[in-house]
Amino acid sequence: MTKLDIQNTIKLLNQYKLSGVDENIGNMAKNRYGKGTIKSPDKLQSKKETDFPQHEIEKDILDIDSLESLKEYMSNFKGCELHKSATNMVFSDGNPSAKIMLIGEAPGHDEDIQGKPFVGRSGKLLDKMLEAIDLNREKVYIANIVPWRPPNNRRPTDEEIEICLPMIKKHIEIVNPKAILLLGSTATYALIKNNEGITKIRGKWLDIEINKKKYPILPTFHPAFLLRQPAQKKFSWEDLKSLKKKVKI
Ligand code: URA
Repeated sequence: MTKLDIQNTIKLLNQYKLSGVDENIGNMAKNRYGKGTIKSPDKLQSKKETDFPQHEIEKDILDIDSLESLKEYMSNFKGCELHKSATNMVFSDGNPSAKIMLIGEAPGHDEDIQGKPFVGRSGKLLDKMLEAIDLNREKVYIANIVPWRPPNNRRPTDEEIEICLPMIKKHIEIVNPKAILLLGSTATYALIKNNEGITKIRGKWLDIEINKKKYPILPTFHPAFLLRQPAQKKFSWEDLKSLKKKVKI
C-alpha cells in the first residue's frame, strides 16, 4: 500500500465514521441497497448459506451433556463475530437445578463487564419481578439467546441469533427446566419464530420441542421494555403469576 492509499483509506474511514458507520463486525456483508444478504465469496464457493454454520455447531455439540462442557465450548467458539468486541462470554447465572429458566436477548454493557446476565438496570427490575412471586436467583436459572454483547447494545442480527440457537437449545436441554420464561420479543422470536408481536403472544403458554422433548414456554415483556413503558407492568404481573402457578413453587 502506498502512502497515498493509506491517506485515502483513512479519509474514507473517517467519512464512514461521520455517517455513523462505527463498527465493522458481522459474519456477512449486508447489502443495504437491495434485499437480502450478500454472501461472502468463500462461503459462496464452499457452502450454501443454510449449511453454515448451524449444522456444524449442532454436530460439534451433539455429545455435550454438562454445563461445564457447554461453557467451555462457547468460550472457545469463534463462529460469531460478536465475540471479538465482547469483554466476556456471558454464560448464565442462578441455579442450574432450578425448575424455571429465564431467557433474555443478549448482554448489555454491565453484563459484558461482569460476565453475568441481567446485572444492569433491567436486571434490577428483573430481580424485583422475581421477588414479587417469591423467587430469586437461587430459585431460577438465567441465560441469554446470544452470549456476547452486540456493540452499542443493538439488537442481535438474525444471523447472530441463528448461529447461537443450537447453543441455547443445548443449554435448555442440559438444564431441563419445567418451564421457560422468554424475556422479550427477540428471545421469543428466536425460539418460536412467531408471526404475531410480543404484545399479542405474551402470556400464552406454548411448547418448544428440543431433541424430542417438549418444554413449556411463556413469552413475556422484556424488563428493558417495562422500564420504558411502566404501564405494561400489569401484564407482566399476570405472566409472573401464571409462571408461578404452572411450576407450583
Ligand atoms: N438484557 C438481556 O436481554 N439480557 C441481559 O443479560 C441483560 C439485558
